Amino acid sequence: MSVRVFAPGRVNLIGDHTDYTGGLALPMAIQLGTTIEFQPGGNAIHLTSTHEPHPAELPISLTDPGAAAPDWAKYVAGVIAVTRPVEGGRGTVDSTLPVGAGLSSSASLELAVALALGFRGSALELALACQKAEQLASGVPCGVMDQLASASGVDGHALLLDCTSLEVTPVRLPQDTEIVAVHCGQPRRLAGSAYAERAQACQQAQSVIGPLREINDPSSLRALGDEALIRIARHVVTENERVRTFVAALRSEDLVAAGAAMNESHRSLAEDFRVSTPQLDALSARLRATPGVYGARLTGAGFGGCVVALAEPGVLKEGWVLEAVDGAHRQQE
Ligand code: GLA
Repeated sequence: MSVRVFAPGRVNLIGDHTDYTGGLALPMAIQLGTTIEFQPGGNAIHLTSTHEPHPAELPISLTDPGAAAPDWAKYVAGVIAVTRPVEGGRGTVDSTLPVGAGLSSSASLELAVALALGFRGSALELALACQKAEQLASGVPCGVMDQLASASGVDGHALLLDCTSLEVTPVRLPQDTEIVAVHCGQPRRLAGSAYAERAQACQQAQSVIGPLREINDPSSLRALGDEALIRIARHVVTENERVRTFVAALRSEDLVAAGAAMNESHRSLAEDFRVSTPQLDALSARLRATPGVYGARLTGAGFGGCVVALAEPGVLKEGWVLEAVDGAHRQQE
């Protein structure tokens, strides 16, 4: 018996650095992703990748995923450690996702590995297991957005994620628009340590004023005292509100309002949350100034990677035109 699985990457349209405080995000699963052809059997896993010089060879009894080598094998090891498969197998990994672009190549790999290894469970269970795998593999306290988007994609729809209830609400994308991701030329760097610092600052703010998700009035953040902390918390609180605004704009097909929310999100990520770079700022400004572009913002963790733009079809001649696809699944068995 052989298994073929596909797990999509994701692009986040709006709502970044909100998931790990139980906030709102609006990603979509994309047509670029990871495919694994796999023959189950034995007590070890042997995976080769079309993009990696060295294979991932791991026993299913492994205990320390962070120690696995080469680097990409850590994600495979994380999945093994969390899902504890009853048997291993041999297979090949092929990905159409650019690495380090902020389109969730690691979440896509984790979900594909989990499904190849026979994971059975709901999309939410798959996402939570793979989030844990990512945390073990990378040591970064990531939220659930990437894995939940890859697991629960719906063709033609963005996904409104409520990261407190873990509810996923598909939101239909307007017909006559394009979603385009353009790489700023700078691979994501320092993302791990800076991400952990921001997550810690959010926790610090919450320990003083309670869940950021429940705050609607940014002026109440004054109670935090420290200006840098106020700005971090203000990004999260206003970003949750922008997700609501963006969803309402999509539902009423008000693309100008949707684009304005994206532009404001970029400004907030750059000035308040401080996860942008000069390259991301320059690229998003250039895209925003292109006739027919409604809005553009950095997408994902920041510190390099891609800008996502909402545009009239055909006006952007660069990057990847992204389509919203169904979530991770077995293609044959
Ligand atoms: C990374 C993390 C996600 C999310 C984004 C920022 O992609 O894996 O959980 O926090 O950054 O929105």
